[in-house]
Amino acid sequence: MLQIKVERTAAPKPKPAPNEPLHFGKIFTDHMFLMNYTEGKGWHDPRIIPFSDLTLSPAAMVFHYGQEMFEGLKAYKGADGKAYLFRPDMNAKRANRSNDRLCIPQIPEEDFVQAIKAVVKVDEDWIPTAPGTSLYVRPFVIATDPFLGVAPSQTYYFLIILSPSGAYYESGLAPVGIWIEDEYVRAVRGGIGYAKTGGNYAASLIAQVKAHDGGFSQVLWLDGVERKYIEEVGAMNIFFKIDGKVVTPALSGSILPGITRDTTIRLCKEWGCPVEERRISVDELLEAQKAGKLEECFGTGTAAVISPVGKLRYRDEIMTIRDGGIGPLSQRLYDTVTGIQLGTAPDPFGWRVAVED
Ligand code: PLP
Ligand code: COI
Repeated sequence: MLQIKVERTAAPKPKPAPNEPLHFGKIFTDHMFLMNYTEGKGWHDPRIIPFSDLTLSPAAMVFHYGQEMFEGLKAYKGADGKAYLFRPDMNAKRANRSNDRLCIPQIPEEDFVQAIKAVVKVDEDWIPTAPGTSLYVRPFVIATDPFLGVAPSQTYYFLIILSPSGAYYESGLAPVGIWIEDEYVRAVRGGIGYAKTGGNYAASLIAQVKAHDGGFSQVLWLDGVERKYIEEVGAMNIFFKIDGKVVTPALSGSILPGITRDTTIRLCKEWGCPVEERRISVDELLEAQKAGKLEECFGTGTAAVISPVGKLRYRDEIMTIRDGGIGPLSQRLYDTVTGIQLGTAPDPFGWRVAVED
């Protein structure tokens, strides 16, 4: 159990007005969590302090070699006025898998979750309540040694910052257009694709710009070897409904094991809708589309929730799905996941976790 010191701000910021449109990740609350790691001493000095800039050496290793890990989850205000999280234990586990890959020290899962609960509790008045909004929680670890050699750092910061946010895509639940990228790749097996770390996102930017220039909102990556098999989207995992079956790429090591992906698979199975986790080639999609069997396509992610895909572009081909409309499975998943998160739907799996016991 962490002994977390709390220093409250003397100058609270004005909160966004309830009717003010919130974007994603642009404003931050009054406080943040910070804990240090020093080799030989372990994690120490857990504290909640006013949200502020950091002072770091320009030689800090994170700036040069990208040794860092981040997570993403959301806090919601229930109808009972209390704050809730969604499956935070899954974030704690994934954080440590990323840490392991990046030679960052492990953070005990219970400490990770305790720290999130503590900082959300301090800033719980910042949790927005308008439909489609939530408090986005961003835990992350950075390597802080002032050293230009390539080696694991011996000191780290673990921080948690909070951002009242609206929909990740400005379009909300309206279907998005996705660009299947056939030139650049994001990750290869054996690399860092399964870890949630900045390098994966740095590698994705050039294709993201290309997709935006082409009028699409995100990139759908293909495998890094044959550039033939579907991997995932820039900030979401991807699902298809083909000829009555739900299919999604298997976790091969190069894609992020999404928590919303796991939630989706479990809900589909619960509803008697089998899910195949396997390789899916672009050719299979094109054929399914031509045969009228590509029934639905949607992305899953914490920020994006369930995001229907209305249009997929691959080279000269544009696949329009459901005439660009929202499919019934996407809608049911969206309603169920957000219902559990907000406490308006039953939670048979115990996914909703109160910030205060
Ligand atoms: N894939 C990538 C690359 C992501 O950035 C995200 C977002 O976190 C996801 C998938 C979805 O993961 P999760 O559902 O855990 O948010
Ligand atoms: C999330 O969905 O939590 C993410 O981390 C996506 C992010 C890259 C915006």
